Amino acid sequence: MNPSSIIAIDGFASTGKSTLAKRLSQHYKIPFIDSGAMYRGITLFAIEKKILKGDNLDRKGLGFALEGIKIKFDFNSGDLFLNGENIAEKIRLPLVSDHVSSIAALSFIRDFLLKQLRQMGQESGLVMDGRDIGTVVFPEADYKFFFNAQPEVRAQRRFEELKAQGQKITFDAVLENLIQRDALDSDRDVAPLRRAYDAIEIDTSERTTDEVFAFLLQKIEAK
Ligand code: CDP
Repeated sequence: MNPSSIIAIDGFASTGKSTLAKRLSQHYKIPFIDSGAMYRGITLFAIEKKILKGDNLDRKGLGFALEGIKIKFDFNSGDLFLNGENIAEKIRLPLVSDHVSSIAALSFIRDFLLKQLRQMGQESGLVMDGRDIGTVVFPEADYKFFFNAQPEVRAQRRFEELKAQGQKITFDAVLENLIQRDALDSDRDVAPLRRAYDAIEIDTSERTTDEVFAFLLQKIEAK
């Protein structure tokens, strides 16, 4: 694999995209960018600045506020910084997960992040995961994968992760959030979640991380 190659990983919520993207990034020594973290970062900002209160979003307010937002994903640590503050932990809060898909459906938010995500691909090869990486952000990516898995398996994995972080949440709430996000992400007008026609699909329900990693390597090396 060429170090200037772009690997795009898309798919449904909590299918293991970021875990595998990180493994590939270590293996090929190219940066990993979690595009979902950026959408989560803007959602957290809107909540903290009270631009989003409950389900009420002040769209104009968010549009204006965007001009003052500096959001940066640090390749080395995998942390996300918003105006200099490390928000890597806060963006995983269930409150952020509950609202991120509505924020990510807004075209002005997508335009704002699209420019930044594409810019990262100008600088070097990379592996990026998200929902529209192989379809919109990098339609010319060298390698494209699309992850799926059964909802209950995904919810169990995410539930364990959140529990390990000390968050108080039930399995049912996690499952409901995943199903709701998948629907919103798939049904939105701008850059909906879709498998790119040339992406290789993988169901991770009954595969370990090592097995999925071996599958990805084999596909990349065979190309
Ligand atoms: O929970 P999971 O890690 O699967 O999701 P994420 O990658 O953190 O993404 C959170 C949310 O951001 C998604 O549910 C989408 O609404 C949005 N997103 C998007 O619209 N486009 C992307 N390229 C990445 C994420």
